Amino acid sequence: MIVLGIESTAHTFSIGIAKNGKKIQILANCDAKYPSPQEGYIPRKLADHHAEAFRETLLIALKEARVSMKEISAVAFSQGSGIGHCLHVGFVAANALSKKLNVPLIPINHSIAHIEIGKELYCKTNDPLIVYVSGGNTQIIVFDKKTKRYHVYGETIDVGLGNFLDVLGRKLKLNPPDAIGVMKSAKGEFIELPYTVRGMNLAFSGLLTFIEKKVIPQVKSKKIKNGDVCFSAQETVFAMLCEAVERALCHTNKKEVLLCGGNARNARLQEMLKEVCNEHHVQFTVTSFEHSGDQGAMIALTGIKILKSKAIPKEVKPKQRLRTDATEVYW
Ligand code: FE2
Repeated sequence: MIVLGIESTAHTFSIGIAKNGKKIQILANCDAKYPSPQEGYIPRKLADHHAEAFRETLLIALKEARVSMKEISAVAFSQGSGIGHCLHVGFVAANALSKKLNVPLIPINHSIAHIEIGKELYCKTNDPLIVYVSGGNTQIIVFDKKTKRYHVYGETIDVGLGNFLDVLGRKLKLNPPDAIGVMKSAKGEFIELPYTVRGMNLAFSGLLTFIEKKVIPQVKSKKIKNGDVCFSAQETVFAMLCEAVERALCHTNKKEVLLCGGNARNARLQEMLKEVCNEHHVQFTVTSFEHSGDQGAMIALTGIKILKSKAIPKEVKPKQRLRTDATEVYW
């Protein structure tokens, strides 16, 4: 059983190939990334990039996996959530490929794929508390056996944590103008910033407005350095997330925390969450650099699990606002 997975929810177009075995094996994970522009992403340009990248990425992935098209048992793709234009390109490519090969087409909930690859390849237990942080999402999740769904315990009530850092990177004109730029520049003096935790939920947009109105003018007048803003912003938002995670740990008594999603790559966030885990004597697990961001491998891996269950969803159209808790996890 070999599944090809197509990921195209945002700025990355990726194809992964996974094989069923005692443990699911990733045979290939290839991508083409659209670089972060200073003006932000334009959906139409992203979609054009993905459409152009499809053929070459497919050929490289097949070569890397050392499999032929005939050996593919199913084609999986990111159904959502994501940017409409980008999702559509992935859907059209996957649909065409599945028809050409005469194999099943498997729609995948993108957020769940981030979790599944973490659980399958990295977790020590089968039931972690999941901290999913990316551009569009920031969620604290547990699996609910009764409803067979991932239950969102807490989340952002406005923008994703990654999106907040990306916008901050652009406003400060960092290089690159995104969360990576913020992480690289985060050295300096701590400045007190608004801290918004509401129960189990978080909010970042007020903090962004505060930085824009009160802090950036001081950067321009050279009273504060870019590094101070990046350092303080990271410390503040990561502390907010850690507070909610700590509360979720106390409620759920989970023995492991899984950090996944694109912003799981941030070393400072890893360090802070690890400290929380150590204090509560629970295992801290983070997905590898390669398997944290958006990638086809997680789509192919989740595709294998669904194909094995022999219950492939019939509704395959892309869904821009597909939530983590909207999909039943029956596999
Ligand atoms: Fe993602």
